[in-house]
Amino acid sequence: MPRLASRLESFPTYPLAHVPAKKRALLARGVDVIDLGAGDADLAPPAAAIAALKQAADIPAMGRYGFGLGHVPFREAIVAWMRDRFGVTFDPVDEVVPLIGSKEGIAHVAFAYLGPGDVAIVPEPAYQAYVGGTLLAGATPYIYPLRPRTNFLVDLDEIPADTLARTKVLYLNYPNNPTAAIAPPDYLAKVVRLCRERDILLVYDNAYSEFGFDGYVPQSIFEFDGARDVAIEFHSLSKTYNMTGWRCGWAVANPQICSVLAKVKTFVDTGTYMGIQAAGVAAIGSWKEFVPKNMAIFDERRRAATDAFRAAGFSCETPKSTMYLWVALPDGVPSRPFADRLMEEEGVIVLPGAAFGEGGEGFFRVSFIVSPDRLREAAQRAGRVLASFAAQV
Ligand SMILES: Cc1ncc(COP(=O)(O)O)c(C=O)c1O
Repeated sequence: MPRLASRLESFPTYPLAHVPAKKRALLARGVDVIDLGAGDADLAPPAAAIAALKQAADIPAMGRYGFGLGHVPFREAIVAWMRDRFGVTFDPVDEVVPLIGSKEGIAHVAFAYLGPGDVAIVPEPAYQAYVGGTLLAGATPYIYPLRPRTNFLVDLDEIPADTLARTKVLYLNYPNNPTAAIAPPDYLAKVVRLCRERDILLVYDNAYSEFGFDGYVPQSIFEFDGARDVAIEFHSLSKTYNMTGWRCGWAVANPQICSVLAKVKTFVDTGTYMGIQAAGVAAIGSWKEFVPKNMAIFDERRRAATDAFRAAGFSCETPKSTMYLWVALPDGVPSRPFADRLMEEEGVIVLPGAAFGEGGEGFFRVSFIVSPDRLREAAQRAGRVLASFAAQV
């Protein structure tokens, strides 16, 4: 029997790992399942992206290796959009890295900056690629729990000095999955300052940059002075354009940071299909028309979910961004048994906070990936499970 590497033992279980099999079993039993688990909406991509993909399929040159450079118009569309959206400028060749979805870039950048003995500050709960990249690179994650106490922000003043001295990478994601927290500008400015003082790479995950409600407009980290020295920012077509399975995203950073991520990638991949990158050009080109309409759909779902879960007896903040509701459970109701019973007894799939680690305990995540009516139905069912827990406590 081949022996496993020891690093595998330190890996947590992926939060969504068991969901597909459970869901199949429920459907096979004839249960009316409402799946609010993954951040993967039931909505269509821009028509222009689909048309561009079809067109590309007929062009043999688009199906050849893209290598790191890929389809240059995709790089150009990215820099034009970053300029129009955030007022920040990048060189399309030296300061952009096209990615096979932002997840792979987030995980791979760790190989360029982390090794044994190094520390990465990893929020918890968080997208699992941060801890994954850190552990794969042989480094040590310093887990910082995101709790209401700090408004779900990583308070860098609380990190012990000896840990900070060994810290090479800080992962931040605002607007945040799963807590839906947002970061105030003065906080982001302070983080950039600290990373510069300590030569820490700031991995800024901006997958939800286009999700802003009630007048909130998310920013790029590059809108803050000095970020170019230390930050790499990740973007994705997945959520903004309902293109999760297409696997297309990008990173922007200064040429040195981009070149080391690109170098790591030359050893593990050969670029995303250029037809997808052409679809990415079309998607980004449709930003002005498509995104407001798409966000109006998420907004309606957000309002429906927030109202319905509150009416069902839960407590939650109104999210100003993302496609998630981070719902608090009463003391004494642990999130895993709650989510398990909600799935078994009522056919509703949510992500228990504990699946993200201890930092997520006491909450569960609802994704706005179905219609307002289905969200309301799910909330009612969840309310029944909550009531039966309350009766036991
Ligand atoms: C915070 C965050 N970052 C990154 C991603 C990954 O997106 P992509 O599909 O581009 O890999 C996700 C997807 O759920 C996410 O929630």
